Amino acid sequence: MTSPSFTFPHRHLLGIEGLAPHEISGLLDLSDVYVEKNRSADRKSVALRGMTVINLFFENSTRTRTSFELAGKRLGADVINMQVAASSVAKGETLIDTAMTLNAMHIDVLVVRHADSGAVKLLSEKVNCAVINGGDGSHEHPTQALLDALTIRRRKGHLDGLTVAICGDVLHSRVARSNIYLLNTMGARVRLVAPRTLLPAQAERMGVEVFHDMVAGLRDVDIVMMLRLQNERMRGNVIPSIREYFHFFGLDYAKLRVAKPDALIMHPGPMNRGVEIDSDVADDVERSLIREQVEMGVAVRMACLELLTQNLSRGNS
Ligand code: CP
Repeated sequence: MTSPSFTFPHRHLLGIEGLAPHEISGLLDLSDVYVEKNRSADRKSVALRGMTVINLFFENSTRTRTSFELAGKRLGADVINMQVAASSVAKGETLIDTAMTLNAMHIDVLVVRHADSGAVKLLSEKVNCAVINGGDGSHEHPTQALLDALTIRRRKGHLDGLTVAICGDVLHSRVARSNIYLLNTMGARVRLVAPRTLLPAQAERMGVEVFHDMVAGLRDVDIVMMLRLQNERMRGNVIPSIREYFHFFGLDYAKLRVAKPDALIMHPGPMNRGVEIDSDVADDVERSLIREQVEMGVAVRMACLELLTQNLSRGNS
């Protein structure tokens, strides 16, 4: 069993906003331990033996849900994936009643994804167990930002001083928001590169530089983080056409040329090839970190589960 050398003083993980630099570093340090353990034959531990983790996902997921399941199982927990479509939610039971019903079964951790920003926080106020935000609307996706940071830190050795361009549909992206908080907290410089229609109002107030042109925005950056067009959250037409969007904002080698020669490419997934990213760039084994991000996701989620359940057994509020 891993013994983290620091305590994480939060009952829930609802977002990156408000986390201190040492808390983020501590989470990443413990995640590093789990990366190595996951690569060994001895992957299983008993840190969460006797505990129950429930994945309650109201939106689709491949990476987050599966890696939380794997993370819980590798730590020895019982893990249940709620089939929301087959649950009493389909009969009209509310989010809060659903969460309180699960809470009454003495569960330890609830991992929740929901289409509404703020829904996971609301739910966390009604239950005794630890709650982890698996993505709420366009608000936050904290474990994605942590796994992105771990991926960058392991490749570049540090986060401070790096220039990271986050490109594409920033307006609807919880991944972008969590990454902006984390990267700013850890001393990186963040650029947002997007058409005006895909940026939040007053984006500059988020402590970032804003660009509307990929060549200007990618010049001399260390990391290029591409975002999916979140069609499911869009109201009306925000881009003229996919073809035009790819021409101006899709990442290809021609646009990447202005970044640093050792610049690395990231994407949280799921990718839309030929929309926000060219396949050759996405599959470039020298420069694309996309598969590594997925691997880091399991380790980060193991670290989050371990730290939050330690708080439960200590009775922190
Ligand atoms: N990056 C991410 O959240 O992927 P999933 O939607 O597959 O979980």
